[in-house]
Amino acid sequence: MALAVPALPFTFVTHGIAVLGLILVLVWTIHFRGGLAWDSENKNLIFNIHPVLMLVGFIILGGEAIISYKSLPYTKETKKLIHLVVHGVALVLGIIGIYTAFKFHNESGIANLYSLHSWLGIGIIVLYAIQWIYGFLVFFYPGGTRSLRGESLPWHVVFGITVFLLAVGNAVVGLLEKLTFLENSGLAKYGSEAFLVNFTGIVAVLFGVFVILSVLSESGAPVEYTAI
Ligand code: HEM
Ligand code: HEM
Repeated sequence: MALAVPALPFTFVTHGIAVLGLILVLVWTIHFRGGLAWDSENKNLIFNIHPVLMLVGFIILGGEAIISYKSLPYTKETKKLIHLVVHGVALVLGIIGIYTAFKFHNESGIANLYSLHSWLGIGIIVLYAIQWIYGFLVFFYPGGTRSLRGESLPWHVVFGITVFLLAVGNAVVGLLEKLTFLENSGLAKYGSEAFLVNFTGIVAVLFGVFVILSVLSESGAPVEYTAI
């Protein structure tokens, strides 16, 4: 199924929103929250790595990897390799990002895995890893038979979009959770930081919308769902 419009303009908007999202999360964590650190006496700096890596890795790179088939002017084989590698980088950054949330909790004496956000988060990273491994084995190496690839592709697309949208949704839940913690500790509800965090969530949602519009629109080259 494809919308009868070219995907390319949607992919340009997607790139623009990605840059905006990157700027917002960096301004928040560095300017408002004191910066990023792997090791520090100030454990909040360790936490700050979590939203940056989840948004940059899992959301932005994950979304860019998905639209790479529509946004890049290369051959199908080259785009497949880019899709695979960028999703791989997104997965690794996601794993490191989740690790930093655990690190922050452990070093601060806070319990692990108590929230809806964390439960969804574990589910999402597991599904993302399964999607990557299955995609690698069937579409890249050693590669499935022609019929297996043909039957798998629609599932790969639907499953991939689902996992990606779940990640966007969970990032929004994470932003809300952190902002609520901060507001309960005295942060002004209508202050500039609160607006910035809320806008970061809106930008993440818009990014997700434009990734989906790109996927559902027509690529420049005919989409061959059987000849993979
Ligand atoms: C798809 C993206 C994300 C995933 C998969 C994810 C996953 C997780 C996981 C698994 C934990 C649990 C760590 C532990 O129990 O020690 C966690 C904690 C946390 N995350 Fe995220 N996260 C994402 C994005 C974000 C974003 C963008 C924020 C914004 C600040 C955020 C805020 C938090 C907070 C405040 C915690 C600590 C409280 C809690 O465990 O719920 N997360 N995240
Ligand atoms: C978690 C990782 C992955 C996600 C979320 C994902 C998601 C997607 C999505 C949403 C599409 C549809 C793109 C479109 O029609 O515009 C797609 C297409 C595709 N993906 Fe993945 N993918 C992942 C990993 C992989 C891997 C590792 C491979 C191995 C090569 C792969 C191979 C393909 C192929 C061959 C297509 C078909 C492109 C076409 O329409 O011709 N994917 N993927």
